[in-house]
Amino acid sequence: MSNERDEATRRRSAETEYRDRLRLRENLRVLLRFGRAYVRLLKRHLERTEQELGYLNGVGYIVGHVLSSTHSERFAVETKVGFRYLVGCDSKLDKKKITEGTRVFMEENTLTIMGILPRQVESEVHNMIVEDPVKVSYAALGGLSDQIRELRESIELPLMNPEIFQKVGIRPPKAVLLYGPPGTGKTLLARAIASNVDAKFLNIITSTLSVKFPGEGSDLIRRIFSYARDNQPCIIFMDEIDGICARRLEEGTAGDREIRRTLTELLHQMDECNGLEKVKVIMATNRRDVLDPALLRAGRFDRQIEIPLPNNHSRMQILQIYAAEIAKQGEIDYEAVVKLSEGFNGADLRNVCTEAGMLAIRANRDYAINIDFMKAVRKLIEAKQLESTIH
Ligand SMILES: Nc1ncnc2c1ncn2[C@@H]1O[C@H](COP(=O)(O)OP(=O)(O)OP(=O)(O)O)[C@@H](O)[C@H]1O
Ligand SMILES: [Mg+2]
Repeated sequence: MSNERDEATRRRSAETEYRDRLRLRENLRVLLRFGRAYVRLLKRHLERTEQELGYLNGVGYIVGHVLSSTHSERFAVETKVGFRYLVGCDSKLDKKKITEGTRVFMEENTLTIMGILPRQVESEVHNMIVEDPVKVSYAALGGLSDQIRELRESIELPLMNPEIFQKVGIRPPKAVLLYGPPGTGKTLLARAIASNVDAKFLNIITSTLSVKFPGEGSDLIRRIFSYARDNQPCIIFMDEIDGICARRLEEGTAGDREIRRTLTELLHQMDECNGLEKVKVIMATNRRDVLDPALLRAGRFDRQIEIPLPNNHSRMQILQIYAAEIAKQGEIDYEAVVKLSEGFNGADLRNVCTEAGMLAIRANRDYAINIDFMKAVRKLIEAKQLESTIH
């Protein structure tokens, strides 16, 4: 009798220890992720500081832009602070390249033009350029084939074949709004466009537009669009647009007024795009209901594409995309998972597959079986119910 009790106590303490370790592992993983992000941030900081030190150690230069050139190889240059000089240029430089508007730097003492600078791209805008988008193929999106087609028609086609629109005599689309509930693939869809269309892609982090100083947000918008016009073809993607385009109830604080100003500039810049330029705007939100009506007015968006919660058919497709990556054995009853997962979004379905994999690991298997998927979907249903009762 006492043996059995001992056995039961031992088992309980082993279970507790196991659960503790699982929790510990999860916590350590999170810490590791934070640690890595922090190291990346520090590295970037170090690089920038080293670069700045390099500048400080060098000879002093003055930056300016050329107003005009004279025949006698002299150039009228205006410095950043507004002084104007008539200056010569270093003999090694190709004088033909120095034309009106060129940015140059001059030696501090002799005021000789020593070199040409690229067009100014402020670091903020520069940070938004997605140089090497993570490859997302259209096949990684489940159940969104209509939406993919619509988006490609509105964004990719006018960038690649604008003549088609001219031939038919219609103005090519310039802006598209993606809207729908959270976790349904809006951001993923934009990423797919970024990695499949041969154009510059600006990913605007909307929070950078909520400003520290008056006028900063609207100024940034202006610079973003001006960069896009200078670097056509270019796609501007603004995620979670409700952050700056929410309809305000009242213009209370100074912060609210600033957001208003940013929004007004955004509307202005969107109106300036005439569709003929190769600048396209994609915006995404899961709160279309709170957007300012001015943004939704006819003419601002050529298309508003709804990304709804996936139906049975779409859920099956999404499930199969993620289940395909998992080692499995035996028949998996996807139909049953699809039936049970009514109301799930794409992110939930991905979680079902991850959870099934976790259950397999917990059961000491290196492959998942049907039961794992069923348990996983039930667990997520419970989690979602709990979530909705808390909210
Ligand atoms: N249709 C889908 N096909 C494949 N995966 C999907 C789909 N929808 C969502 N996912 C998965 O869910 C994750 C979250 O989706 P995503 O970030 O695109 O959602 P969202 O619509 O932008 O949500 P939010 O409105 O909260 O920003 C994706 O990284 C992807 O793994
Ligand atoms: Mg998103």
